[in-house]
Amino acid sequence: MRRQFGVLGAGSRDDAAVMTAFDAVDWLAGPARVYERLAHALVAHCPVALTDARVLDAGAGTGVVGTVASGHGADVVALDLSAAMLRRGSGPRVQADVAAPPFRPSFDAVLAGCLVNHFDRPEAMVASLAGVTRPDGAVVLTSFPRRPDRVKEAIDAVARAYGWEPPGWFRAVKAVQSGLTGTIELFATVGRAGGLEEVHVHDLDVAMTGVTVDEAVAYRLGLGQFAEWLATVPAYWADHVREQARVACEPLLAGWAMPLIVLSGRVPAGTSPGR
Ligand SMILES: C[S@@+](CC[C@H](N)C(=O)[O-])C[C@H]1O[C@@H](n2cnc3c(N)ncnc32)[C@H](O)[C@@H]1O
Repeated sequence: MRRQFGVLGAGSRDDAAVMTAFDAVDWLAGPARVYERLAHALVAHCPVALTDARVLDAGAGTGVVGTVASGHGADVVALDLSAAMLRRGSGPRVQADVAAPPFRPSFDAVLAGCLVNHFDRPEAMVASLAGVTRPDGAVVLTSFPRRPDRVKEAIDAVARAYGWEPPGWFRAVKAVQSGLTGTIELFATVGRAGGLEEVHVHDLDVAMTGVTVDEAVAYRLGLGQFAEWLATVPAYWADHVREQARVACEPLLAGWAMPLIVLSGRVPAGTSPGR
């Protein structure tokens, strides 16, 4: 199923399948440990001061990015389409589609961790976020660059060897990552097409120092594209997958740093695009 949203038509891919996947995951028990590192990198690139700032955590999930922003003194509202993800978080939360956020252009900053890659027209999604940002406010987004991550690749290879095949929605997310947001130039083009000014893109390596083997495996296999599949195989099979994933990634953890691409931009001072 493919859905178009509102007049913006941000084109989130195969929404029902994505929501089923996110509804099923226990984000805080797995992926959050790694995503909180990514959240710190995102927040560090926010060009507006966060103390007392009104911030929207868009595609918040359980609120990992918002929690980091709150730590900097921001007043955060979380927005996500998945009620199950929001339920696992805390603080002010709104269940809504990021393509039609129910807000006036009032936020000092809109932060979106690993959300933009869910849209096959990411520039329309950026415009949607810019539309709820005050003039001269900031929009900050992260995605994954084309560069490989050896730990992800090792765990994915184990899953494949045990019969995992990437679901369609995940293949679509990967296609956007690679084709539309996977390089500094491409991502910057998306930001500008979404109406942002002062667009800066950084291709980073986010240190995963201190993440244990169990945490790395729980992160990767806890993501929707694997969690859904693991729930369908016999328990002993899932245990083998986890054990072999541990064996495969353990030698790779020393010095592990995850590639991440961060875009920051500002809504033009005179007008706000997307309105
Ligand atoms: C990869 S998770 C990232 C969660 C969180 N930002 C983090 O860093 O931990 C992507 C999130 O985007 C949400 N999402 C996907 N499409 C959405 C849409 N159209 N509107 C709102 N949220 C959406 C999913 O439900 C999921 O919680």
